[in-house]
Amino acid sequence: MSFSNFSPILANEQLTTDVFRLTVHAPEIAAAAAPGQFVMVRAADSLDPLLRRPFSIHSRGADGSLSLLFKVVGRGTALLAKAKPGDVLDLLGPFGKGFDLSASEKKPICLIGGGMGIAPLLFLAQELPGRKYALLGARCRDELTPLAKKIAELGCAVQLATDDGSLGHHGFIPDLLDEILPQISRVCTCGPSPMMRSVAGKCRAAGVLCQVSLETHMACGIGACLGCVLPGADGRQAHVCTDGPVFNAEELSWQL
Ligand SMILES: Cc1cc2nc3c(=O)[nH]c(=O)nc-3n(C[C@H](O)[C@H](O)[C@H](O)COP(=O)(O)OP(=O)(O)OC[C@H]3O[C@@H](n4cnc5c(N)ncnc54)[C@H](O)[C@@H]3O)c2cc1C
Ligand code: FES
Repeated sequence: MSFSNFSPILANEQLTTDVFRLTVHAPEIAAAAAPGQFVMVRAADSLDPLLRRPFSIHSRGADGSLSLLFKVVGRGTALLAKAKPGDVLDLLGPFGKGFDLSASEKKPICLIGGGMGIAPLLFLAQELPGRKYALLGARCRDELTPLAKKIAELGCAVQLATDDGSLGHHGFIPDLLDEILPQISRVCTCGPSPMMRSVAGKCRAAGVLCQVSLETHMACGIGACLGCVLPGADGRQAHVCTDGPVFNAEELSWQL
């Protein structure tokens, strides 16, 4: 079930020059949400920008709050960056299919996030029982530090990679996966397409289940506009907003 909610903003913290964590009081959406689902946010009171913007649910608080982690990339996110505590955010959600939490695996699960793809992984780490690894990658140290600590506190064995070598492995996240693959039963990943393609390929070769969360452009978020469709492995079109955003990697054609 989805809800329309005018949610008071509790905090809007600037974590780096262009990354913000926005926390709102949205008890109905928070109660209904599952890791990997997203909300559609109206970025301004006016009709510009006209379309709502999709954001993964970053975390949920016991007090009915939920947080979004976003990077300023354009007009909508620039407006959101200016939002202040006490302002009201117009939210719809939760939407889409999230990560599979039902599987009862004996081996650990590995969460893999690249860039802003790390956003949904905190909520997943909060809700996923059992032992977990987390491989987190970003351009530089500043983009990783705030989240890596929080995910480690949730019981994940965390390894980091940065493009510039300022923290952890100097290189790409999939480089770190080979060593972990024999120890895990499943990967849950979100991030840039080349990273997820590489992760999905390594998982396929090792016989490890891989769930990927896609962040395509979206206009409506509810299956009405065809703005988000991608080719599925069976030749049919997949709606990222309603069939996903989380898919089993084998469901996709990987021309992403
Ligand atoms: C299911 C889902 C979950 C998402 N979760 C998050 C999240 O947790 N944190 C976060 O920071 N972002 C997330 N995004 C991406 C986010 O929706 C866009 O960054 C946002 O809509 C940009 O709005 P804007 O008005 O600032 O940029 P616009 O002015 O619309 O665009 C600015 C630039 O960003 C590019 N852009 C816009 N949307 C996307 C996109 N989806 N993928 C790649 N490039 C894009 C445009 O092509 C353009 O070059 C998610 C997207 C989806 C579909
Ligand atoms: S965003 Fe409109 S159909 Fe998916």
